[in-house]
Amino acid sequence: MAEEKTARLHLAGKDYDLAVLSPTAGPDVVDIRKLYSEADVFTYDPGFTSTASCDSTITYIDGDKGELWYRGYPIEQLASESHYLEVCYLLLYGELPNKDQLVDFETRITRHTMVHEQMHYFFRGFRRDSHPMATMVGVVGAMSAFYHDSIDINDPVQREIASIRLIAKVPTIAAMAYKYSLGQPFVYPRNELDYASNFLHMCFSVPAEPYHVDPALSRAMDRIFTLHADHEQNASTSTVRLAGSSGANPFACIAAGIACLWGPAHGGANQACLEMLREIGSVERIPEFLARAKDKNDPFRLMGFGHRVYKNFDPRAKVMKESADEVLDLLGVHNNPTLQVAKELERIALEDEYFVSKKLYPNVDFYSGIILEAMGFPTSMFTPIFALSRTVGWISQWKEMIADPQNKIGRPRQLYVGSPRRDYKPLDAR
Ligand code: CMC
Repeated sequence: MAEEKTARLHLAGKDYDLAVLSPTAGPDVVDIRKLYSEADVFTYDPGFTSTASCDSTITYIDGDKGELWYRGYPIEQLASESHYLEVCYLLLYGELPNKDQLVDFETRITRHTMVHEQMHYFFRGFRRDSHPMATMVGVVGAMSAFYHDSIDINDPVQREIASIRLIAKVPTIAAMAYKYSLGQPFVYPRNELDYASNFLHMCFSVPAEPYHVDPALSRAMDRIFTLHADHEQNASTSTVRLAGSSGANPFACIAAGIACLWGPAHGGANQACLEMLREIGSVERIPEFLARAKDKNDPFRLMGFGHRVYKNFDPRAKVMKESADEVLDLLGVHNNPTLQVAKELERIALEDEYFVSKKLYPNVDFYSGIILEAMGFPTSMFTPIFALSRTVGWISQWKEMIADPQNKIGRPRQLYVGSPRRDYKPLDAR
């Protein structure tokens, strides 16, 4: 990054020159790191709407153009021409693998998909009807109790093993959480299957009969993983980085990311969106729900709509919409009422002055639930699938942060608006 431009802050009769950093792509960034020590002021930016919390080489979003790149490669190209494990390699190591590197990486991931047998007993402590996300937060966090040999974050070899373990085992844990919620036996991973097929196998097969993974569905699953793999400094990724900045172990950090992702404004939106589409139920009821979304006195929001960064369209939603059509076609599902409601809702909202003026477009969560439902997943599994896909992004961002010599513990400041100093009063004097 070249430090050529400066920004001048005029404050209390003094001028302060602040370096302006120029990124590879995107807006310039004013460097305020020395502002407090030099000018004795903080900046105020709740929700980080204008604040870059780190520099990163992994993912780039151009919200105005509706572009998303992983390591410089557009998401549309990766979704159509690559596959999830190759994308994982790209995110983790910065370059696309050659043939040998890919085979080696796939082998390492495949050889780590089983979880320690004792973890099976650990699951049994959860209520049988636990939400799979609740189970995942607990079990992924508990990996630090099962894999002591990969929690020293200062050892690059241990960091690497922890990364491989997480990418390999999180699908197994997500599938186990699902099986547990159904009361079905856990299904062990199968090494001859690819990553997406193995996940479908662990979710949908039962010991009583053979299960065949449809390659077209596996491809659609793989594309969902790819589309969710990383998304620069979103809430859960920032949570992972903040947790990791204290030196916490990687399993604890990823558990923190999963906990954050669960919220309905973030990854929980895919479940909330499908439930909303079902509640709308028919095209005739769309105006009623649109009116509610626009009503300032009603907390209802159109789930799967809007994004902090995308102000044109979400490129992931475009791919997801095409995929929804393909998957439903493949499964012979015609005139799916939820898809009909979704398409009509999108059409009407995109012509509506409220949504147009606020630049609210369908996001990745708008169509993903329709595909996952058609594949046979209950809504409670939508966010766990997002979590398992995003694990590689969290890990890549965490590794980048740990390897950065500038890494400091994350510690935001505040604008204190509480009581001024006051003296304690004994109980009988209050
Ligand atoms: N429905 C109706 N109005 C909306 C919506 C929506 N979905 N999203 C934003 N608005 C309005 C909001 O009321 C506000 O209006 P005003 O300026 O009059 O106060 C304006 O648009 C800007 O919204 P904001 O809440 O200030 O924007 P934000 O950047 O803080 O929030 C968001 C982004 C994604 C949290 C929000 O758009 C939202 O709640 N969407 C629904 C939940 C959702 O789909 N989340 C998934 C996001 S993509 C995947 C992921 O991140 O996991």
